[in-house]
Amino acid sequence: MLPSTAQLKQTGGRELKRIVFEAETIAERVRELGREITAAYPDGDLLVLGLLKGSFIFLSDLVRRIERPLQVDFLVAASYGDSTVSSGHVRLLYDPETELEGKHILLVEDIIDTGKTLNRLVELLKKRGPKSLNICALLHKHIAEHLALEAAFVGFDAPTLFLVGYGLDHAENFRHLPYIASLT
Ligand code: PRP
Repeated sequence: MLPSTAQLKQTGGRELKRIVFEAETIAERVRELGREITAAYPDGDLLVLGLLKGSFIFLSDLVRRIERPLQVDFLVAASYGDSTVSSGHVRLLYDPETELEGKHILLVEDIIDTGKTLNRLVELLKKRGPKSLNICALLHKHIAEHLALEAAFVGFDAPTLFLVGYGLDHAENFRHLPYIASLT
C-alpha cells in the first residue's frame, strides 16, 4: 500500500518500507501487558525502570495500564549510534537515582536485538540487591545467542529488520511515529 500523505509529512518525505505494527495493535498489546504485570506483582515496592531513549513512549503507555502502586525511574545506556548494525559496546550514561535494594525491579526495554545491552544491565542491576528483577520488552527478535535473563513480558516477536517508530530510531529520527515500521 502506498504511504499516506500524513505519514510522508511526519517522516519528512522519507518512505519507510512497510508498517510492521500499527498503532492500534500496539495499544491493544500494551493494555494486555499492563494486565499481565498487574497480576504478576501482588506485594512489595515496584520500580519500573525505563531504558532510554528507546523505551520512552512504550514506558509511558505501559505504566498507565498497570493498576497497582509503582515508581518510575530511568537508565541511559548507549549501544549503537548512527549505524544500522549493533556494535555490542554498552555505556551507562545515567544511573537511576532511586534506591533499588529490596524492590521489585521491572526493566523496560523497547527491543531485544543482540541482547548485549540487557546482559550488561542485568549484571549491573543484580549487584544493587533488588527483591526481584524482570524484563519487559516491547519487541524481541529472538536472535540473541545468550541472555543473562529471559524477558518475563514480551509485547511482540519481532522480525529481523531494522525497525523504527514508537520510540525506536535510526540516527535519532523516527522515534515519534505512532506505529512501528521497517526502514529497509
Ligand atoms: C537500542 C535499543 C535497545 C538496544 C537493543 O538502543 O533501544 O536498547 O539497542 O540492542 P541489543 O539487544 O543489540 O543490545 P540504542 O543503544 O540504540 O539507544 P536508544 O535506546 O537511545 O535508541
